[in-house]
Amino acid sequence: MTDYIPTSQIYIPPGMIDLGAGDPDFALLPLDMLQRAAEACFAKNDSSFLQYGDEQGDGYFRLALAEFLRLGYGFPVDFNDLFVTNGISNALDMICAHFTRPGDTIFVEEPTYFLALRIFEDHDLQIVPVQTDADGLVIDSLEEKLHEFQPKFLYTVPTFQNPGGYTLTQDRRERSVQLSQEHGFLIVADEVYHFLNYSDQKIKPFAAYTDLETVISLSSFSKILAPGLRLGWMQAHPNNIKRLTTSGLLDSGGGLNPFTSAIVRELIEAGDLEQNILNLIATYRSRLKVMDRVLRRELPQSEFKTPDGGFFFWIRLPGVDTGQLRDAAQEFNVGFRQGILFSSQGGMQDYIRLCYAFYDEEKIEEGIQRLRQCLASFSK
Ligand SMILES: Cc1ncc(COP(=O)(O)O)c(C=O)c1O
Repeated sequence: MTDYIPTSQIYIPPGMIDLGAGDPDFALLPLDMLQRAAEACFAKNDSSFLQYGDEQGDGYFRLALAEFLRLGYGFPVDFNDLFVTNGISNALDMICAHFTRPGDTIFVEEPTYFLALRIFEDHDLQIVPVQTDADGLVIDSLEEKLHEFQPKFLYTVPTFQNPGGYTLTQDRRERSVQLSQEHGFLIVADEVYHFLNYSDQKIKPFAAYTDLETVISLSSFSKILAPGLRLGWMQAHPNNIKRLTTSGLLDSGGGLNPFTSAIVRELIEAGDLEQNILNLIATYRSRLKVMDRVLRRELPQSEFKTPDGGFFFWIRLPGVDTGQLRDAAQEFNVGFRQGILFSSQGGMQDYIRLCYAFYDEEKIEEGIQRLRQCLASFSK
């Protein structure tokens, strides 16, 4: 007999506040919207979504998604340029499988989304870091690395980066696209946090450049609806999409996730995706403010820039080995992600990443207070 039967990937022991968890709050996963959408889908008496799917993804779903993106991005999106995925992780794995060979070089940001590093390692890629600052990827550093290496692709999280929280400026977006053209490498832009924007700033996604063969934009429903859906999309030039749709994987199994796509199509057409994003923005904005205020009060020694969107604060604790701090934090029933995880080079050791999406305001405050107590005992 086991007394713990796993369901979700994340397990947090009772009493622990793990501010490292980068998942959406269970309470914010929209059961009601998905139930309504599933009922509408089943009521149509059309079984086609239970069949093997079109290789590029359900066409009606792609049409609904293209319209949603048109309104969100402010420019037209052609449903022929969309390819349905099982989420960004799956898209990255497929891109590695079809655009690289073991031993190829790729560029990543330093720091970067740590679990993408795992995917790249699965494909035996040589990972070269490019520097970032408060405005995202540093173009001088990119140019410098381009003198030395010929990467197959650059992986970037340009907007409300995980873990850094920062957003690449428009000027740098254009420069990096130019460089991709001049040097013939792909930009794989992971735009997962694009719609979780808590400011008035309008940001032009890399999806605006996918008429070029060197730019691929990835996104997902994981952070704007629910990660358990395992549904996302790629926006890319038709030649890039073709490399994936002609794969053995899709030839055998058909397009990805037709069942879920049909349900999410109903949800989009009902206007519920937009509504859900508005609800999330209101909630996360308030949690962000609390984390910001409590951090300034409880951890005045910490250095960080308040993010304008996404899920994370990226915090420097000068002089602290955050690996050791993490072990000490367990006794205080608080967790965080240590900086070294996000470095492809074993750096970032005095950084931590805190997430404000998973817990409500009260727990965020309590978690940071515990962190202060831990730090106080740690530095004694
Ligand atoms: C930057 C980034 N990319 C991708 C993912 C995972 O996306 P998906 O659930 O669509 O595979 C995450 C989740 O934390 C993320 O932060």
